[in-house]
Amino acid sequence: MNPITTDQLLAAQTWRYATKQFDASQTIPSAVWQALEESLILSPSSYGLQPWQFFVVANPDLRAKLRPHSWNQSQITDASHLVVFAIPEKVDVPYMEKYLARIAEVRGVTLESLGFYRDMMMSDVIAGPRQAWVREWAARQLYIALGNFMTSAALLGIDTCPLEGLDPAKYDEILGLPAKGFHTVVACAAGYRAEADKYATLPKVRFEKSDLVRHI
Ligand SMILES: Cc1cc2nc3c(=O)[nH]c(=O)nc-3n(C[C@H](O)[C@H](O)[C@H](O)COP(=O)(O)O)c2cc1C
Repeated sequence: MNPITTDQLLAAQTWRYATKQFDASQTIPSAVWQALEESLILSPSSYGLQPWQFFVVANPDLRAKLRPHSWNQSQITDASHLVVFAIPEKVDVPYMEKYLARIAEVRGVTLESLGFYRDMMMSDVIAGPRQAWVREWAARQLYIALGNFMTSAALLGIDTCPLEGLDPAKYDEILGLPAKGFHTVVACAAGYRAEADKYATLPKVRFEKSDLVRHI
């Protein structure tokens, strides 16, 4: 791995902003988009459980239907790509078994050898107090993927706008997510900023570093 420089990192972070107006005529090249999908998949999650699904909404009719349920934000229809970040209906025993089987497959180990890990996860996620708020917990994981996606995009020169200004229930209905076993939490538009987007040049509003980072 060749690390980027600190200057490159901060330049990308400063360049990134929540894009309000996308240039609808520009499309992210397929190879770049594939890398961004990989970055979603590579996002870390607690126990590695990946309690999420990423719906890439390409169909323009669907995106037009989503827009009125997204505070009419133009990013929904104008950005090159739109990803809906969703959590599973359940994080239950079959879900855990699927994950354990995947570990065994990828790492070439037996399921029996994962017994300790299995018991630890099951006693926490399934039988423990976490199960009572497991969807909220899954949503927290989802936001890690969202952040990872936006930073990865910025490093590749791709603009994004995270979008919580939407009606999750309407999204679920329009995209048919409950039937697939998922529920909408947040979305992210990705593409290229429109030249006219005045937000691109506004100074970033952040509290002083001394207000946010304390060395104790
Ligand atoms: C989870 C989340 C949801 C957001 N939802 C919206 C949204 O619906 N529409 C929008 O224009 N910006 C949205 N934003 C963007 C924030 O307003 C923006 O990130 C913040 O003001 C900081 O500005 P910057 O990202 O341009 O640095 C959202 C940001 C986050 C992290």
